Order: sequence, then structure tokens, then C-alpha cells
Amino acid sequence: MDRAIALEMLNSYVTTPHIIRHSYAVEAVMRALAARLEPDQLELWGLAGLLHDLDNDLVDWRSDLSLHGPKTVAILQEKGLGNEALYHAILAHNPANGSKIETAFDRAIYAADPITGFINAITLVYPDKKIRSVKVKSIIKRMDEVRFAAGANREAMRSIERLGIPFPDFAELSLKAMSDIADILEL
Ligand SMILES: [Fe+2]
Repeated sequence: MDRAIALEMLNSYVTTPHIIRHSYAVEAVMRALAARLEPDQLELWGLAGLLHDLDNDLVDWRSDLSLHGPKTVAILQEKGLGNEALYHAILAHNPANGSKIETAFDRAIYAADPITGFINAITLVYPDKKIRSVKVKSIIKRMDEVRFAAGANREAMRSIERLGIPFPDFAELSLKAMSDIADILEL
């Protein structure tokens, strides 16, 4: 599967604009993580970012979170798109579906998913609401303010350290990746 097909899938299955923007953000962070950890997997890691929330509009995840992930995998399998590593990473971003984090790929998306929303929330508290105003040190500081963006899973974001990436590096790499596509993210 190439990126053009993944984008076509994203735009046909997901109609919620903020989920589409979020998918681009996770793609950008996943590509940056792959560049550091598994450069030969850069395209695949990017695809996982783009596609991980593909079933957002199709399953009632608010009432049963375990449905989120397996439906995306079923769609991709039915279309003959992707491979086992991709499916496993897509499942692993949502442990509520019973999946386990087994690979660096799984861990990367588990951590990349929440940090995009977290950086988004931090950006929006700045007077100009521009990502270029955000500093790495404010991301680090906000991690300890548990009531700020309470839905952003701190444990998941911090778990990037298990891949040998210190959290401040992860914050910096994610901020840079998202800043590079600020126009797409409307930030
Ligand atoms: Fe997500």
C-alpha cells in the first residue's frame, strides 16, 4: 500500500475533520520515530499513523472501546492492504481491544497517538494558538499537570523511554514533526 491509497482510505472512511488532522499528526510523529529507530520502516510506520483511527466513524467506541482497532484491521484485510506488523500496531494503539504491545512499532504508535493531542491542547492555550510558539519545556512541564488535557495518557507518552528515547527528545521530535505540517494541522 502506498501513501496515496492510505489517504484515499482515510478520506473516504473518516468524515470528522479533527480526526483526519489528528491522523496526519500521528503520521508525522511516526515517521520521525521511524527515522530514529527503524529507518527502513519509515513508510510503514507513517501508514500506521494515517490509518490507526480509520474506524472512528464506523464503530460505537464511546460505548465499547474494544471495537476500536479490530474494525480497521478487518477493512484493511478485506481490501488486501497492509501486513501483519501494520495490523498489530493498529490494534496495539488501543489496549482496550485486548491487544498487547510487543514490538517497537506497537510502542511507537501507543506513545505517538496521545502526544499529538497533548501538543494540540498545549498550542491552544497560547494567545496566538500557533504551534511555533510552543516550547519543548512547556510540553515537559504540562506532563506533571494532571488536570491539563487529562485525557492525554501520560503513561503511554512516557513509555517511549522503553525504546531508549528520553521523553524530552520525544517531545522535541514530536513538536518538530507537527510544526512541519502546521498548515495541515491548522495550528
Ligand atoms: Fe488516534
